[in-house]
Amino acid sequence: MVVCILTREGGSGVSSLGVWFPQQGGAEDPLTVRESGPHGQPVRLALLGLGTVSAGVLQVLARNRAEIEHHVGGRIEVARILVRDTAKVRRVEVPSDLLTTDVNTILSDPRIAIVVELMGGVDRALSSIQAALLAGKAVVTANKDVMAEFDQEVWAAARKGGAPLYFEASVGGGVPVVRALAEGLAGNRIHRIAGILNGTTNFILSRMSAEGGSQAEALITAQLHGYAEADPSADLDGLDAARKISILSSIAYAAPCHPGQVYREGIRGITPADIEQAAHMGWTIKLLAISERAQNRVTMRVHPAFVPAQHPLAAVADAFNAVYIQGDPIGKMMLYGPGAGGEATASAVVADIVRAARWVRRGAVAPEGPVRTLVEFGSMDDVHSRFYLRLRIPDRVGVLGQIAGAFGRNGVSILSVLQTPAAGDSAELVIVTHQVREDRMQRAVVEVGTLNVVERVASVIRLAPEDL
Ligand code: NAP
Ligand code: HSE
Repeated sequence: MVVCILTREGGSGVSSLGVWFPQQGGAEDPLTVRESGPHGQPVRLALLGLGTVSAGVLQVLARNRAEIEHHVGGRIEVARILVRDTAKVRRVEVPSDLLTTDVNTILSDPRIAIVVELMGGVDRALSSIQAALLAGKAVVTANKDVMAEFDQEVWAAARKGGAPLYFEASVGGGVPVVRALAEGLAGNRIHRIAGILNGTTNFILSRMSAEGGSQAEALITAQLHGYAEADPSADLDGLDAARKISILSSIAYAAPCHPGQVYREGIRGITPADIEQAAHMGWTIKLLAISERAQNRVTMRVHPAFVPAQHPLAAVADAFNAVYIQGDPIGKMMLYGPGAGGEATASAVVADIVRAARWVRRGAVAPEGPVRTLVEFGSMDDVHSRFYLRLRIPDRVGVLGQIAGAFGRNGVSILSVLQTPAAGDSAELVIVTHQVREDRMQRAVVEVGTLNVVERVASVIRLAPEDL
């Protein structure tokens, strides 16, 4: 168990965690800081959830309190923590009277200015976020499910309540990509975002590459590290990455993107044989989330892809994330860092808490949320990729000719073929194609699979875009 030493602060008659910030001290900027209450009064926040990320937030707030106080220009205090089970043993020790199972004690408390939603899930999280915003409280959330699926609803509540909404931790863990796209790159026309946006699957693929273990074993380790979602299918099936690329695309293109518009394949079909073959051919397998804009058309997809070993994305290992951005005028750039885990995510959450606390202290007008322009959404069928196929075939005369014929009839041009002996009279055939439209390739795969000279289509994996 990780124990965070927390001290109680008195004086207000309210139970609260004065985990950081002495009564006096902390830099003030007399030109810009306006106290929200009597001088020296802390900005009070409530945490919704006390799991992996909340524990990280409490630890970071305690450990880096001087830096945080400096950036806020005053003190922050944790006044309430919402949990499901107040009796549960926690990763951090907190005074039991801070815990509540009733969100209304938080929402109706006028002294709580910031609500930090770290419960996960949708229904309870969405209603709590909306209610907090409508009550005029700043909201910080790491919830990509809500921000990807219901951003219109939460922004509507933010506008109505006149309160700000911050969601840096919803994408990239500790990598500040949301703000980079919304602010640092605001002068760019973004053409493409290609990211490793899921730490759990990147951890699993890295472990399989380095140690040759199974997906199931690596997933258990990822869960022990606190990287995986409560239901890890969201990681394995690419849904988490789809939500994240949808959030980034909405920001980058100022467009109303939705995870339902993201073509999605996860990593369950990736085998040690594919990883070994990829390495043999100078590639690394990554779960890529790619979003492209051409004129007014946006296409989003998540799928495993072979990345050349010398590409910066290939070096992104373990639970690290990276976002490779192509735009005008920036050209190509990459943001990289820890993508999951309590403390990494806490880095982004605490940064948002600092922004929210500044808003509270300055009494500024809350940002109204994004203005979205309409775009068209492209279909996966129109995407052009190179493909890798691994087939099990009988090792006899005429087989290659039939397979090549099926590809030819569907307009698929073959770049290379490698045949190696397998068990018995079988052989393994690895084919790499030239760039081809997705729908043509899918038709070719179906036809090849029905040939009586093909025992099994073992894998079909795309290569990363040539101009990445
Ligand atoms: P977690 O460890 O499962 O913790 C969730 C916490 O929320 C638990 O303390 C739980 O209470 C509480 N909770 C859940 N449903 C609740 C409800 N209906 N009412 C009251 N409390 C409830 O989750 P986590 O890993 O910290 O993730 C939190 C959020 O951050 C999620 O949206 C996740 O997607 C996001 N996120 C996570 C990471 C990461 O690396 N873990 C990174 C980025 C973003 P009990 O303990 O009493 O059950
Ligand atoms: N389960 C997520 C991941 C947590 O593995 O990336 C960070 O969002």
